[in-house]
Amino acid sequence: MNSILDQPQLAEPFLGSVLASAGLDVEYIRGEGNTLFMRGADGREIPVVDYAGGYGSLLLGHNHPALTAYAKSLLDARVPVHAQFSLHPEANRLALALNRVIQREVGDEEPYLAIFANSGAEANEAAVKHAELDRVLRLQAVLEKIGTDLEPVRSAVRSDLATVPPAVFEQLGLTPQASSPAALEELVDALTRLNAVQAARPPVLLSPEGSFHGKLVGSVQLTHNEGYRAPFKALATQARFVPVDQPGALRRIVDEERSTLLGLTVEDGLVKVTAQDTPVFCAFMVEPIQGEGGIRELSKEFAEEIQRVCAEIDCPVIIDEIQSGMGRTGDFLASSALGLRGDYYTLAKSLGGGIAKTSALLIRESRYQGQFELIHSSTFAKDGFSSLIALKVIELIEADDGRVYRLAAERGTRLKDMLASVHKDYPEVVKDVRGRGLMTGIEFHDQSDAPAPPIQEAARAGLFGYLLAGHLLRGHRIRTFPTASAANTLRFEPSVFLSDDEIQQLDTALRDICDIIRGNYQRPLSLPAT
Ligand code: F0G
Repeated sequence: MNSILDQPQLAEPFLGSVLASAGLDVEYIRGEGNTLFMRGADGREIPVVDYAGGYGSLLLGHNHPALTAYAKSLLDARVPVHAQFSLHPEANRLALALNRVIQREVGDEEPYLAIFANSGAEANEAAVKHAELDRVLRLQAVLEKIGTDLEPVRSAVRSDLATVPPAVFEQLGLTPQASSPAALEELVDALTRLNAVQAARPPVLLSPEGSFHGKLVGSVQLTHNEGYRAPFKALATQARFVPVDQPGALRRIVDEERSTLLGLTVEDGLVKVTAQDTPVFCAFMVEPIQGEGGIRELSKEFAEEIQRVCAEIDCPVIIDEIQSGMGRTGDFLASSALGLRGDYYTLAKSLGGGIAKTSALLIRESRYQGQFELIHSSTFAKDGFSSLIALKVIELIEADDGRVYRLAAERGTRLKDMLASVHKDYPEVVKDVRGRGLMTGIEFHDQSDAPAPPIQEAARAGLFGYLLAGHLLRGHRIRTFPTASAANTLRFEPSVFLSDDEIQQLDTALRDICDIIRGNYQRPLSLPAT
């Protein structure tokens, strides 16, 4: 019996009981490469192959020796961890390194300026905050321009060089009247009121259905799963979620949200109403491969539609590469293979090499608002230790002419081929195999009508995947989880050091699960150790 369970449970105790119900209540005591060691009942260490990979944070595995040695050397050298509000050359070197890699991959010279944060959700919220600042400034500029453009109209009407035709009053919902400077002011008041209504509208945030962008107050609004989002809807602006498999859906939503700001001009001696788009679109946030939503890759067609429509409405595209980036798919950015280009990118997870907690927001220079730096900050962001570790991570990923990218692609293909062969042999059990590189998933058919009552119950409660995870752990010493918003999909996100033996071990384990399901649960899925 694990001694920790003999103590009162005060750290998220509810979760402990959920873990226990699926047999996932184990304590890990050591991590190395793809292996986590748990303590067995007899006190011995039991190795577990880690396919959960820190939810995608461990592209380089647990405690990569070069990273831990470097971390020790930094601490021994007493590198300042916190020196806020001073120059941070190491953060700048990191920004330069990220730019070098991204520019090479997307083939564009325009630099991305970096803001650092501590977690994925925080980087995404910083991205939305920056995009909103940019939108508000654009909105102000349009309103100011409308205001200054009124002056020549006023002076033309005052000096009888222009008149206001009756139709213009009707256009703004007023009763037509004779043209005069006073009548023009009534028109201006009406127009200003209409514009104020448009300017006060909340920003429009867009994201594909199935997205996961974090669980903080702002980012949870861009996380599609109602289970996470519903209680917090009143706290922030609601996003519009775009169906991923309906060409034209984005266009329809954009058309619903589009509105205009009105101005006045003089043409051929007549006052005319002008209209232009309200800058209401704040951002489109998208994962190139949805992770938590079930390992679902964006189609090239949808990527192209996002790019085209967002360019047309001047809406920045924020590409969330928090899980898919850093080389996991064989490219530094999973979006580059889709031809999707971001105005913003967010990175986290593997950026910290599994030992630092850091994230980065990269913003295209032409969209960058320098004043953001003075109104956004975080005590821990951009700390010296994390920046230097992240720099080392980039160095390791880029080493040997990109060996890590090649490994991610090659190991990923090997892993996916194995999953595909399980799918082929058990089509009535396995519904689909998806993903790219070391971001793969296997989806099982729904078991809501399974003959075994506990399985049926678990499936109906959306917990089937957790039962499978418990079986993999207890029966096969394999650690993985379902993707929480698609609970019949198990995800596999190991490090690039995944071995053939480890793939074989997973193959055996998945076939065992499939045999149990195909045999109508004649044999039980293993439950918590007794
Ligand atoms: N964006 C993506 C694409 C993510 O996968 C995650 C987290 C986040 C943002 C939030 O990052 O947890 O550091 O605040 N994904 C985890 C998962 C929770 O299960 O895949 P965070």
